[in-house]
Amino acid sequence: MQNFLLFLLCRLTDLYYICWKESFNKEIMQLIDGKAISEQVKQEIAAEVAEIVAKGGKRPHLAAILVGHDGGSETYVAAKVKACEVCGFKSSLIRYEADVTEEELLAKVRELNEDADVDGFIVQLPLPKHISEQKVIETIDYRKDVDGFHPINVGRMSIGLPCYVSATPNGILELLKRYHIETQGKKCVVLGRSNIVGKPMAALMMQKSYPGDATVTVCHSRSKDLVKECQEADIIIAALGQPNFVKADMVKEGAVIIDVGTTRVPDASKKSGFKLTGDVKFDEVAPKCSYITPVPGGVGPMTIVSLMKNTLLAGKKAIYKLSLIHISEPT
Ligand code: GUN
Repeated sequence: MQNFLLFLLCRLTDLYYICWKESFNKEIMQLIDGKAISEQVKQEIAAEVAEIVAKGGKRPHLAAILVGHDGGSETYVAAKVKACEVCGFKSSLIRYEADVTEEELLAKVRELNEDADVDGFIVQLPLPKHISEQKVIETIDYRKDVDGFHPINVGRMSIGLPCYVSATPNGILELLKRYHIETQGKKCVVLGRSNIVGKPMAALMMQKSYPGDATVTVCHSRSKDLVKECQEADIIIAALGQPNFVKADMVKEGAVIIDVGTTRVPDASKKSGFKLTGDVKFDEVAPKCSYITPVPGGVGPMTIVSLMKNTLLAGKKAIYKLSLIHISEPT
């Protein structure tokens, strides 16, 4: 009897030790604070601009074209103008009513292409249905395309050449870098295949560099094994635009979760009448992760900061020398 009790005590001690060790080893979830990082990056940019100007250099100038009065676009453009102020850039906002003709808009784009004072410019998307977004994007001189949407920038990005990388994927890379998140050899699932986020994100995560060197799978609305792919992923980048799509049972313990979603979901308790909602069911997914971005305050602020970084590059002519290349008219 005495021996049995001793045996039982030993096994209980072992069990207690195993449980203690397990809880000790379990990773603690870290919230990726995009807001704080974005403020830090803006201060870094502002310091560099102050130095350029103090040495007699030109203050970078970003122009933005806004067509119509879409609520989301108004908010984004206002935030971009504000960020320019913080960074010490000059900014110009050019507004058109939603019934502007495509030709009138294209004429403004050509004018900005030729304006030596404007280092870079964007046309806020989406545009009204009667205007071809692709035509507008292709009319922008790629050397001033700080959004990184022009096919020349997209192509150069995909083969790792210097270019303007589109803002959201670049902002995500910056977050991975600043949090020293390992990506080499990791299984990365990108949810969504948009030209602005999903496709460039996948290309960048497979690039031979850090962050990158990952094994990338892109899942979309026609994917058959989306849940299984997510369950096996070390990193999930959710950019579907479907609120709360990623649930806890789709996420493996210790995964890194980047939430790009920012859908406006009606919420009567908010003054604005809506709540920005991510693609990830945050409350149930967060406890399983090693790192996760919140919505808002994760990827969103980094998108704007990436545009600021591209504008600084444009101001410094760090990627393209404007005077050397002839601008050809799009067909
Ligand atoms: N609409 C949504 N995101 C973006 C962006 O990054 N750039 C532009 N121009 N329009 C957008």
